[in-house]
Amino acid sequence: MKPSFEPLAKRRGPATGALTGIGAIGAIAAFTLVAALACDAFPRRSEGEKLWRKRCASCHGLDARGNTPGYMGNVNADLSDESWVGGSDDGSVENVVREGIFAKMPANDDLTREEMRALLGHFRYLRGERSR
Ligand code: HEC
Repeated sequence: MKPSFEPLAKRRGPATGALTGIGAIGAIAAFTLVAALACDAFPRRSEGEKLWRKRCASCHGLDARGNTPGYMGNVNADLSDESWVGGSDDGSVENVVREGIFAKMPANDDLTREEMRALLGHFRYLRGERSR
């Protein structure tokens, strides 16, 4: 004799809910990718910001507050405040950037004058000391 009930699994329709979910995630991923590509295709970052992101942000953060794992919990890596180990003037900052700090910060002695100026410009911008 056959059982008079159908197994539950057979009665459910196709898993349309799940498929819609996957479709939505795919759409979001595609959108994100296109947005990311568009950013690179039409760069609006200044030279200084690009250098900052490449060479400084991993430790000092995008905002110069040093709030990153890379800053090693060092309060001196907060460059947004008014406390300095060296000086706050361009010459002192440039020296630190060129020479680095032993075991704490890499040297950047390969920067050209223009690159250094652009980098300092972005640094001053992050500190709110000048506009873009
Ligand atoms: C590997 C992490 C790291 C990177 C990358 C890095 N720094 Fe630093 N930097 C530090 C740390 C840590 C200190 C604090 C050192 C100390 O104890 O005096 C510091 C200190 C400084 C100081 C001196 C602050 C003061 O109080 O006198 C300046 C200026 C500075 N960094 C600028 C930069 C710039 C600009 C870049 C990018 C070209 C950069 N740093 C890249 C880790 C880093």
